[in-house]
Amino acid sequence: MSVNTIAANRAGGLFHGQEQVWLFGYGSLIYKVDFPYLERRPASIRGWARRFWQGSHDHRGTPDTPGRVVTLVPAPETVCAGMAYLIGPEVFDHLDCREKNGYLRFSTEMTFSTGDHAQGLVYIATEDNAAFLGPAPEPELATQIARSVGPSGSNREYLLLLAESLRAMGESDPHVFAIERRVLALESRGARRQAG
Ligand code: SIN
Repeated sequence: MSVNTIAANRAGGLFHGQEQVWLFGYGSLIYKVDFPYLERRPASIRGWARRFWQGSHDHRGTPDTPGRVVTLVPAPETVCAGMAYLIGPEVFDHLDCREKNGYLRFSTEMTFSTGDHAQGLVYIATEDNAAFLGPAPEPELATQIARSVGPSGSNREYLLLLAESLRAMGESDPHVFAIERRVLALESRGARRQAG
């Protein structure tokens, strides 16, 4: 099921008259930068783990065959690496539309790779949103991701671009990399079957 969070995010405000806001991205916001920004810096947030637990009915799947995209789930002591962008508040008009399928903006502290900190915002799809799919065994996650396609492209591409971007930043994420390995293995098994 899909859900539209645009109105809730607009009502939430959270800018308090600021002219520039830090946004922390940990999924497609790391590699699909279709918005203007003033600064872009590798960063991380503590206490959250990245998981392919959010359904995608609008980007990497459809209402009938949802894909899976990442959200953050509470995980004390876990550090989630991503990318921070310094943006003007008007950029949220675009971002709220892009992230409308269940993601709400929350305030967070982020730590830049240089060690300094800033307060900013992060989009999180919490487990009470209608598009939340929750945990599933890795083979199931991989099969669903390998099959799903939506208006923004294949779910496979979302996964592989995320894994590549994390590697390019010198970061690792066991959950993302394990699903990537499984999707690639499924594909090479499929290719071998076709060849044979
Ligand atoms: C994010 O990238 O920060 C949110 C999830 C997504 O758009 O993939």
